[in-house]
Amino acid sequence: MCGKPTFYITTPIYYPSDKLHIGHAYTTVAADTMSRYKKMRGYDTYFLTGSDEHGQKIQRKAAEAGVSPKAYVDEIIKNFKELWRVLQISNDDFIRTTDPAHEKFCQDFFQKIYDQGDIYKSEYSGWYCTSCETFFTELQVGEEHICPDCGKPAELMKEESYFFRMSKYADRWMQFIADNPDFIQPESRRNEMVNFVKQGLDDLCVSRTTFDWGIPVPFDSKHVIYVWFDALINYMSALKKQGEDVYEKFWPADVHLVGKDIIRFHTIIWPIMLMAADLPLPKKVLGHGWVLLGDGGKMSKSKGNVVDPLVLCRKYSSDAIRYFLMREMGYGTDCNYSEEMLALRINTDLANDYGNLLSRTTGMISKFQKDVVLAPGAGTDFDAELIALAKATPERFAALMDNMEWSNALAELWKLVNRANKYIDEAAPWALNKAGEKEKLATVLYNMVEVVRMVTIMVSPVMPSLPQRVWAQLGIADRPELATWDSLRWGAFPAGTQIDRGEPLFPRIDLDALDDMPLAEAEASAQTEAVAESACSCEPVEPECVYDDFAKVDIRVVQVLDCFKVPKADRLLQFKLEMAGQEFTVVSGIAQWYEPQQLIGKKLLWVANLAPRKIRGVESRGMLLSAAQGDCLAVVEAPENMPTGSRVC
Ligand code: ME8
Ligand code: MG
Repeated sequence: MCGKPTFYITTPIYYPSDKLHIGHAYTTVAADTMSRYKKMRGYDTYFLTGSDEHGQKIQRKAAEAGVSPKAYVDEIIKNFKELWRVLQISNDDFIRTTDPAHEKFCQDFFQKIYDQGDIYKSEYSGWYCTSCETFFTELQVGEEHICPDCGKPAELMKEESYFFRMSKYADRWMQFIADNPDFIQPESRRNEMVNFVKQGLDDLCVSRTTFDWGIPVPFDSKHVIYVWFDALINYMSALKKQGEDVYEKFWPADVHLVGKDIIRFHTIIWPIMLMAADLPLPKKVLGHGWVLLGDGGKMSKSKGNVVDPLVLCRKYSSDAIRYFLMREMGYGTDCNYSEEMLALRINTDLANDYGNLLSRTTGMISKFQKDVVLAPGAGTDFDAELIALAKATPERFAALMDNMEWSNALAELWKLVNRANKYIDEAAPWALNKAGEKEKLATVLYNMVEVVRMVTIMVSPVMPSLPQRVWAQLGIADRPELATWDSLRWGAFPAGTQIDRGEPLFPRIDLDALDDMPLAEAEASAQTEAVAESACSCEPVEPECVYDDFAKVDIRVVQVLDCFKVPKADRLLQFKLEMAGQEFTVVSGIAQWYEPQQLIGKKLLWVANLAPRKIRGVESRGMLLSAAQGDCLAVVEAPENMPTGSRVC
């Protein structure tokens, strides 16, 4: 056992959708922020997201598209992976409910509950909303037979089904909630759920027979398991897939982060499934609000009022979008979105408050002290209050972050940012410079740098590519020990550091000119160049190597003649490469990122003189070059106009 505390956080697994909106981005950005924050605080974290790929809705959509459900989801989840990459989502795993390991685990779970008598066969007769994949009673759909959640028509359903004896567990659930009052957050949601269960719990229909895109019921292949029963299990099967040790380490989950529309599934059905299977329950479910469009409507793909987050990231940077989402949505409440609100938030908090603090700081150090941060000397009357606030902020910020009150945490942090801006006005370094008060000037400029450093550390889980850009300007890019949570000690910044003043990090957005770059235009460029310029929190550079060692590596331009999946190896692609008329075979572990046909015909870069290796019985020669960062990878393409065999030097 290693001594680090653990933290396991999940997002819901999303329905594969070709129209992702900023509402989808919220849950995942929040979970990512939390995971990064906990990691910074010394936790061993595990962050899971994924896709929910079974069910009638997907089967119908695939049929409309004229492809198999699997082909349909395979294609569409690329959208998620791309969005998560651009948003710098640092998930440890991406589970797909079509993973065979998940399917098997889910069947075993179903079987176990059946064997103990908590699943029985009967007939379902009632209403179903395929869009929400949810069963409703006559009363719930009302006279017009409308889904109470999404407002679409519900369908009358009558079919043989298996049922899960939820009703049997109602009392145990009530007791659990009484014993664990923090389990459902925020409190208003807990009260809603308690009132719901008080009215009595019906048994839940957990299998379907009128379509087949699902996990077969293990003992009755005419039935597929209800998609929600299948989906909820992902939180556990994903860990099991990694091995019993990973499961033991991280289960029970610390937090399931979910939107308020699916809180009932996570706080009633899932805990009761676990009770029935005699497994430990997650520690907390946080139900967040919705991102609403400026006019108050929930943004949803079915309403057609979606805002493509890829496009927004392209236009405003993923850090800015992440900041907006985390700052704008209060704890458990909804928030509004409009492009104008986004631009206002960027202008106020990022360009004016934070950005100005940084540029005033570096600007004055550059002008008055020839780019050097000098040691503080004699103080001014204004220092004490600023320093006291800077020292008190980490603890206050941490308390709010630990409670997942991200917006409040950022507001707390911005008190320090604003106090520092006020401090500059009070202490007036330009006047100290004019008066020749060199020591006092050095003190004021030092204090400003120290506040920038501390705020940047604290905000880094929300804006992961910001710190690197700030450290470069402050001249501490090669001092990672000054960027840790533990370095939030006043005075840690080394005097004598040479800064490197740069461009403003968040240029102001001209609100009047918002329409000058219509989203459609940004959309077109986002599609073609989806790589986020801001996604640059990279791994440290390897130790220096001498030229002669580097020169031993022979890199050539090659063309892909053929490419296919290696059977029974999820991660491997086998390539037939051509170089100056000769052919070579290479096996590469990049199947997760590419469909083979995407690569056929491409000119790539290949390490020609790497000793051959046998991979899955195939002799693989050399190695294809890729760029990788976190969970993302892209092969390095050679210039189109260079013939194969050209040497890269
Ligand atoms: O519900 N604002 O998937 P999903 C905020 N597959 N959050 C929003 C939102 C908005 N406008 N629109 C959607 C499912 N969300 C199931 C989950 S988990 C075992 C299975 C959130 O793709 C929504 O609340 O419909 C949910 O948390 C998530 O996006 C996925 O929604
Ligand atoms: Mg939904």
